Amino acid sequence: MKRSKLMVVISVVFLLLLSACGTSKTGGDGDKKTLRIVTDAAYAPFEYQDKGEVVGFDVDFVKAVAKEAGYEAKVEHVGWDPVFVEIEGKTADAAVSAITITDKRKKSYDFSVPYFLSTNKIMVPKDSPIKSAADLKDKVVAVQNGTTGMTATEKLLGAENKNLKKFKDNNLAIMELKGGGADAVVADNTVIEEYVKNNPKENFVVIEDPVFEKEFYGVLFPKDSKLKAEFDKAIKKLMENGEYAKIYNKWFKVDPDLTEINAQQ
Ligand code: ARG
Repeated sequence: MKRSKLMVVISVVFLLLLSACGTSKTGGDGDKKTLRIVTDAAYAPFEYQDKGEVVGFDVDFVKAVAKEAGYEAKVEHVGWDPVFVEIEGKTADAAVSAITITDKRKKSYDFSVPYFLSTNKIMVPKDSPIKSAADLKDKVVAVQNGTTGMTATEKLLGAENKNLKKFKDNNLAIMELKGGGADAVVADNTVIEEYVKNNPKENFVVIEDPVFEKEFYGVLFPKDSKLKAEFDKAIKKLMENGEYAKIYNKWFKVDPDLTEINAQQ
């Protein structure tokens, strides 16, 4: 065989090998593996339903991350408590639901590196006498059951306090406040800030208080999932290459400040 011909054969073999590597995550038919990602789509702007479709910052984010890691992703609304049941039972590959990384949760689940900075805040009517977390003491407070907002409010009011009303999703907590059945809602700042901004006629305001800790969201995985390492790598990549900023900008109309998130990674 002539030297140049041999080179062509070697290159072809090399290219074939390369493409075989590239499709290692695909099924036999060449399709990428589709991950089943679960959420509680009642937490705009992170995840909510629009004409039967699950949309939001988290949805765009997790799809971009999955794609970077070589997967397709289908995000399915299952509800908040079921998110944890599914991940624990490994019936879903991952969950994205504005989920705060906590030490307690880390005992039962794995988390990706942090991707969003958050804190709990208080939502009240404009004319409310409540001006701080301390003012919540003898008031009726609505929260989403099983959230960090619930835990933080339990610390303020006492876990057994009847004035603490727990709902299955955060929209129900907001409805309780609107209907006058509660004096305040405690939930993630971005969610209530967006709500108040988008519903100016409802006359609510958001109060911040230093008792509420800084929190970071992570993607949730079953313990020891091999996806964690792949997603971590992909998340860092998207934060470096501007893709994360693009998605952030689409939903929040400003550039992200990644200082605190990078400090955590
Ligand atoms: N960040 C809070 C937590 O992890 C609330 C998240 C609620 N998310 C939702 N999709 N309802 O506890």
